[in-house]
Amino acid sequence: MKLRWLGHSCFIIEGDDRIIVDPFINGNPVCNLKTDEVKVDIVAVTHGHSDHLGDGIEIAKRNNAVFVAIHEIAQYASGKGVTAEGINMGGGVKVKNTEIFMTPAWHSSGLDETNFVVSTSPAGLIIKSGKTVYHAGDTCLFSDMKLIGEIYEPDVALLPIGGRYTMDVKQALMAVELIKADLNIPMHYNTFDLIKADANEFKRIAEGKGFRVALLEVNEEIEI
Ligand code: NI
Ligand code: MN
Repeated sequence: MKLRWLGHSCFIIEGDDRIIVDPFINGNPVCNLKTDEVKVDIVAVTHGHSDHLGDGIEIAKRNNAVFVAIHEIAQYASGKGVTAEGINMGGGVKVKNTEIFMTPAWHSSGLDETNFVVSTSPAGLIIKSGKTVYHAGDTCLFSDMKLIGEIYEPDVALLPIGGRYTMDVKQALMAVELIKADLNIPMHYNTFDLIKADANEFKRIAEGKGFRVALLEVNEEIEI
């Protein structure tokens, strides 16, 4: 499996299918890709905030990709003419050769439609496409991350570390210990001034406890 970080919480995963998660491209100050350069089979979204849903509808339409999100956001996408599969916490769906399951995330979420915000639930995603990736979405630390680790045994955990709206470095280090993924990759930091974090500190402390961490540069792709 290949994993490419586009900055913030956006990753392109190339496993048995090509999947983009949280496709925040337009308006993402660290991403220099254009939406029409994205070639994917599946678009997966953790929640409705604009820095996660992002360009998901447009990318799904352009690629004739399947859009996967929580039920209400999938309905919203479907209303925009996108092929969508809605899921919810504890469940999942098989799309093409990939299985996507939904986990809780502690956060808020809304969809901004014609200037009023419809509330939807935030989530995390487990993506099984060859290897297994846990994308935590936007969340604080919660002890059920231990269960997520036990149930899905992720090869990779993608964890927000930026603070303010999500876990900070200290909480993310505790998440690493709960989840016990083979590899941990920080996200949702240094996109904006409000979420500045020291990813090197995260790596240093986690590695000191015997966990593996990869710090990606924006646009960097690694083989898992
Ligand atoms: Ni959010
Ligand atoms: Mn966010």
